[in-house]
Amino acid sequence: MTDKSPEWSQAGVAGCVDQVLRSRRSVRAYKPDPVPQDLVLEILQAAASAPSNSNTQPWRAHVLTGAPMKALGDALVAAFQNGNFPPPAHFPDPLPQVFCTRQDDFAVRYYASLGIERKDMAARASQTQRNFSFFGAPVGLIFSIDARLSAHSWLDLGLFVQNVMIAAKARGIDTCPQVSFARFHTVIASHLQMPVEEVTACGMAMGFADASAAVNQMQMPRQRVEEFVRLFGFESAAKLSAQPCPAREIDTWPE
Ligand SMILES: Cc1cc2nc3c(=O)[nH]c(=O)nc-3n(C[C@H](O)[C@H](O)[C@H](O)COP(=O)(O)O)c2cc1C
Repeated sequence: MTDKSPEWSQAGVAGCVDQVLRSRRSVRAYKPDPVPQDLVLEILQAAASAPSNSNTQPWRAHVLTGAPMKALGDALVAAFQNGNFPPPAHFPDPLPQVFCTRQDDFAVRYYASLGIERKDMAARASQTQRNFSFFGAPVGLIFSIDARLSAHSWLDLGLFVQNVMIAAKARGIDTCPQVSFARFHTVIASHLQMPVEEVTACGMAMGFADASAAVNQMQMPRQRVEEFVRLFGFESAAKLSAQPCPAREIDTWPE
């Protein structure tokens, strides 16, 4: 809110921002409608307001549509089908139990929404492969970062990526963040002619959700605030646990 927008009450702004935050979800089926270039750039420019350590702004975004996007997707599918890629590095092995439990819960919901039996590895692989066509979205993004940077700069990149999703959602555009691309850095780097010091962090599908697709109806639960917050010096921690956790408003954002 700025001095130029006195008509916006603080509560109105909070309601609006919360609405965008709560209505964002990972969308994995899209309408074919294009997202205009100007709109994509507007979203990325707004996202670049993300904070970063000493304002180092370590994010890089490679934005694809049309033939280049299809060419990259085809190369990734070929690599995926050849088994020509390293094992996943985005989670440790073993994954600590608490996270394993949540990951399992995600998988149950995900495959149920697609009508895929968990034991049907071929159907699961085919769904995983859909990542590489950005789930049919008209725009695909690859986010990279200078590989010489450390975990703290990856945090900066994460803030930027979240900003992209929120700035998109505020404009009625849906997204899905995708770590699936990270294993295929070699293929991606060669297609996008990335500088040698850059590494692929993740990708993102961007477009207009196909509201009729069952996979887009998934509602992923979140921990209640008292489950992940510890209070120090506040009046009463008991008050916190008495507060109801607001339901995640999934369907209230105007289409
Ligand atoms: C860094 C990151 C990487 C992700 N990678 C993938 C992915 O490769 N494929 C996918 O379908 N979803 C991916 N997701 C989406 C998560 O599954 C999703 O955020 C989570 O289940 C919560 O659901 P929601 O985004 O709809 O709230 C990723 C999310 C994040 C934040």
